[in-house]
Amino acid sequence: MKVCVLAGDGIGPEIVAEAVRVLEALRTDGLKIELEPALLGGCAVDAAGSAYPEATQKLAREADAVLLGAVGGPQWDNNPRPLRPERGLLAIRKDLNLFANLRPAILYPELANASTLKPEVVSGLDILIVRELTGDIYFGEPRGVENREVDGRSQRVGWNTMIYSESEIRRIGKVAFEAARKRNRRVCSVDKMNVLETTQLWRDVMIELSKDYPDVELSHMLVDNAAMQLVKAPKQFDVMVTGNMFGDILSDEASMLTGSIGMLPSASLDASNKGLYEPSHGSAPDIAGKGVANPLATILSAAMMLRYSFGNEAAAQRVESAVKKVLALGLRTGDIWEEGCKRVGTREMGDAVLAAL
Ligand code: IPM
Ligand code: MG
Repeated sequence: MKVCVLAGDGIGPEIVAEAVRVLEALRTDGLKIELEPALLGGCAVDAAGSAYPEATQKLAREADAVLLGAVGGPQWDNNPRPLRPERGLLAIRKDLNLFANLRPAILYPELANASTLKPEVVSGLDILIVRELTGDIYFGEPRGVENREVDGRSQRVGWNTMIYSESEIRRIGKVAFEAARKRNRRVCSVDKMNVLETTQLWRDVMIELSKDYPDVELSHMLVDNAAMQLVKAPKQFDVMVTGNMFGDILSDEASMLTGSIGMLPSASLDASNKGLYEPSHGSAPDIAGKGVANPLATILSAAMMLRYSFGNEAAAQRVESAVKKVLALGLRTGDIWEEGCKRVGTREMGDAVLAAL
């Protein structure tokens, strides 16, 4: 199996290095895996003049999976839109047709105090957000900003297009229903059908699709209410499925219920389970290069890679158990540290996971 490794910007190289060490350790144990580094994001803009350069495109297309750190940083904030690091992320998602973004939000019992919510509200929390990733207002045309005559004067006008086709909705819906079958068999579809036609279609298609999954309970929620319910009673959810933009917002909200975004992995899959795996958090430029970032979300992303792209459930569980073990031993990076625990840096945390493996 070939893995394209994109360390990216900020803390990306530090956290990816630890995940790579974990994969290499499994390799000496018989896992057949080749790791090929390439550039994505701001570092690629600097080195190759593109956030998703051709050399990276070639490697990423050939690979069976992609492991990504994070992209972005203040030094590129004023770049023109095509040369922004995020553009690399959006481009690789679209190029590899990674339409299904899986974002689990799990509360580890050892980290119950990290949440800003009351323990009884979040204890045992285990939600999976299934976010559509290659459509919606993120990619819809037409889009732009231009001067137009409005209210009797020429002024700047900006517009984007929120658009979904039936087939796009159906394929992400299937991913959600299939995922629910391996969990608690409940799907909540999130839309804004009281206002937006495109999400009325979303709801209609989900209802049609649910006929193929009589064993899964489908419910619907308007996105504003879903945002509220996530903080009020998050444990009511099992799988949530929604479009690209609502999913962007709700997945950040869900991740913070756990209080430890540094722990949460994600997978972005195509129709044949080729995937891009990355931590749910960003590039944290403020702590980059200091050796203090939490590598566990990236290590857990590598576990998701073993599970979804390589079908190696045993190896995935081994990595996940190793992570649980270091938490049980009381090791914590700064983001999840609390009184009575041992504060460790990125490398030390990686060492501990390797030892637990
Ligand atoms: C995410 C990020 C990206 C998105 C940005 C960086 C383009 O927020 O992965 O959630 O909006 O999809
Ligand atoms: Mg986001």
